[in-house]
Amino acid sequence: MKNRKNMANQFINKFTLMAIICLVFFACSEKPSRKEQEPNLSLKEAFKDEFYIGSAINRFQIEETDSVMASLLGREFNSITAENIMKSMIIHPQRDTFNFELADKFVALGEKYDMFVHGHTLIWHSQLSPWFSSIEDSLEFATATEKHVKDLAQHFKGKLGSWDVVNEALNEDGTLRNSIFLKKMGENYLASAFKWTAEVDPSADLYYNDYNMTNPEKRQGAIRMVKKIIDQGIKVDGIGMQGHWHLNSPTLEEIEQSILDYSELGVKVAITELDVSVLPNPWDLEGAEISQNFENSEEMNPYTEGLPDSIQVKLANRYKDIFAIFLKHQDKISRVTFWGVSDGQSWLNGFPIRGRTNYPLLFDRSLRPKAAYDSIIALKKRFDIKNQTN
Ligand code: XIL
Repeated sequence: MKNRKNMANQFINKFTLMAIICLVFFACSEKPSRKEQEPNLSLKEAFKDEFYIGSAINRFQIEETDSVMASLLGREFNSITAENIMKSMIIHPQRDTFNFELADKFVALGEKYDMFVHGHTLIWHSQLSPWFSSIEDSLEFATATEKHVKDLAQHFKGKLGSWDVVNEALNEDGTLRNSIFLKKMGENYLASAFKWTAEVDPSADLYYNDYNMTNPEKRQGAIRMVKKIIDQGIKVDGIGMQGHWHLNSPTLEEIEQSILDYSELGVKVAITELDVSVLPNPWDLEGAEISQNFENSEEMNPYTEGLPDSIQVKLANRYKDIFAIFLKHQDKISRVTFWGVSDGQSWLNGFPIRGRTNYPLLFDRSLRPKAAYDSIIALKKRFDIKNQTN
């Protein structure tokens, strides 16, 4: 009997010991808390192996006047583009006067946060310094244009990762826009601009940048134009698709096909000015022809009191779908830059209709991440898990 009791005691002791070991084991191997399991990745961390994540920044962001905005920029983005201050009318206001102060601060900010710094833009008919148009003589115009390009390339030599050498040189049908540069210098201004920039700053990547680059006719025009330059032995490193898009257009197929078609040229593809307008589009206007402006009205400005959840969800899904394409073709994409950090800052509050309330970016007016932000991060996490298991 005693023996039996001893045996029973021994069994209970062993059982208790086992139970304790199991408990300790499970306690130690307990699933990490949600926070440990899913650290809050920033955008730039999430996409660090795929492409740069950039933002266009304005003079207040360059001067870091708002500390919350400054830390958000440093945490989320690893590339910057100057939204306006490197355009000719600001940086080169008179023929013999440059205004480098803000642009130098912009470059210094990029260095401070170890960012890829992009130059926007050397040759553009819009926001063009008035002195260009005051030159009558074609040869004199060409000489001044060459000097403009070379002086800027020289000033920023070695400091910029890339340049938009030419911005928006095409019409919607793929023909060349009849800009002052085309009128005065002929088609050659395109190849010359790339050649001059490469001569001065050979290490910068040189891009052609435009809107509506998903439209088939314009796409063919861009391909023809860039091919012509490359065929002359002049380097073009990349094509920038601005990416001023809408909730329903362009189609995902058009976006994907464009990335494929451009990279067929052997150049990098960058998405350079991404935003997704949620507002009604007057007369189905596409793209970003900044000279266009339309009348404001209640019908055209429906979300002044906030964005309805249903549209917030649509926007999040649209961004998810767009980024799914970017991830699929990440080997072809060098950089994805948003045209601004937060909705309050977006140029789409003023274009193509002034005074509207738009919601095209990933951070709201209080600088909080929106559902669109979460959808992109979640997409990336799923992408990584799928790749690990494959
Ligand atoms: C826009 C800026 O965001 C606005 O602040 C400015 O008033 C007009 O230009 N394509 C471009 C950008 O290449 O430079 C434009 O930026 C938007 C369209």
